[in-house]
Amino acid sequence: MKRHGTIGVNERGHLEIGGCDAVELVREFGSPLYVIDEDLVRQNCRAYHQAFIEGIPGGEVAYASKAFCNLAMARLVIQEDLGIDVVSAGELYTALSAGADPGRIDFNGNNKTPDELRYALESRVGRFIADNFTEIQALDEMAGSLGLRPKVLLRVQPGIEAHTHEYIQTGKIDSKFGLSIATGQAMEALTLMSKKENLDLVGIHCHIGSQIFEVDAFAQAARIMASFMSYARDSLGFPLPELNLGGGFGIYYNQNDSPAPVRDFAQAMYAALRDEMGKLSFPLPRRISIEPGRSIIGNAGTTLYTVGSIKTIPRVRTYIAVDGGMTDNPRPALYQAKYEMALANKMLAANQIVASVAGPCCETGDMLIWDAAMPWVETGDILAVFSTGAYNYSMASNYNRLLKPAAVLVAEGKARLILRRENFADLVRNDLMPEHLLWNQGKQWQKLTLPEGEAELTLPEGKAGSALPEGEAELALPEGEARVE
Ligand SMILES: Cc1ncc(COP(=O)(O)O)c(C=O)c1O
Repeated sequence: MKRHGTIGVNERGHLEIGGCDAVELVREFGSPLYVIDEDLVRQNCRAYHQAFIEGIPGGEVAYASKAFCNLAMARLVIQEDLGIDVVSAGELYTALSAGADPGRIDFNGNNKTPDELRYALESRVGRFIADNFTEIQALDEMAGSLGLRPKVLLRVQPGIEAHTHEYIQTGKIDSKFGLSIATGQAMEALTLMSKKENLDLVGIHCHIGSQIFEVDAFAQAARIMASFMSYARDSLGFPLPELNLGGGFGIYYNQNDSPAPVRDFAQAMYAALRDEMGKLSFPLPRRISIEPGRSIIGNAGTTLYTVGSIKTIPRVRTYIAVDGGMTDNPRPALYQAKYEMALANKMLAANQIVASVAGPCCETGDMLIWDAAMPWVETGDILAVFSTGAYNYSMASNYNRLLKPAAVLVAEGKARLILRRENFADLVRNDLMPEHLLWNQGKQWQKLTLPEGEAELTLPEGKAGSALPEGEAELALPEGEARVE
């Protein structure tokens, strides 16, 4: 198990993060619990700031908020002087609510709705990353109707596919994102955009994949984009001043992962651009942006669970069931992602068994970790899964009507709640009871009072409040949440 950021072991043999005892955190805030290491988030932001903003002329970094999006996280990023990349009105609303400078917000996404375009335009976001012809048309019309002329980059497919530990140059054109250089559609779109009165075409964007370790994959993407910029200048008759090279920088999840330092990526990308632009006698872009998400928040998150049922199938496997799983971390089920773990209350105990960690959902695939070595496990132990900061909370669901966990930001021995744990009232907040379903066993009407703040149901004339037949069971709802009158 790798100790990221402020992770350590205290004198009680307990896991400690940000100076807080993990066992005490669960006692205070319950489990599952996302624990976010504030120092490590800031340290990661600063590494990007130094390497790209201070280290590259015209360098800019926009945190890809999809990785972990909430007010506190957005605020941390703003305090650390990074921009923010959003892909929906919801992410935009969160960034703006946290006080982001709209001019440093990039709006990505392959299907921005008319409402989203209008909201982003009215909010004066700094840049739109247009994905396709439909969007170009819609954005131009919407901008015109509002008397605006937003800066726009086109998302192009450079023909590079990068995977963990390898990358390949392909002619891959079958993707829902962006327009391909190879098919000519990217150039066609740029030509169209350059003629749109209400669009200020400033550059091109690409994103070559996720969890990429190969520095050279980014350098190669930079070269391809540079040469496409030069080709575009010749076709358009003017140079595009901005280049966005996306996100996707890999992080450590387990022993197979060996990410390079952020500055290596920055230097390789910039060197490749300088080299290629030099050969093409093309000026370097005035603005060179990236959009890292995972590599800013991933290692800064740890999820704490409480161990429940333990089942050993003789000569087959031991299953350790915990109180969360695919609902708070869908990555193992989605991508076979592999994580490291520890028992937070037994950090000094020697490993004795090999077991697999299961979630509580009605899905065989609801597994967090397969076959990990661990100390002897008992019900009530606190199990920590590391590097869960990115794409865990942001992809969490309420499957099986599980409640989304709370999150705390820890630093210098203090834990601050940044996401409240959901409660049962949250679960039924948006549920509605159509009038005809109020009919009780074909005979009686019952009047429901919904959780506080919700509108009361209006019953048909003369039906309201009729009593339930004697002996009829009351609708059993969580105490204080809802009641039958
Ligand atoms: C367009 C774009 N930019 C940035 C990112 C962030 O990637 P990562 O979190 O791997 O850095 C993504 C992730 O899917 C993306 O699609």
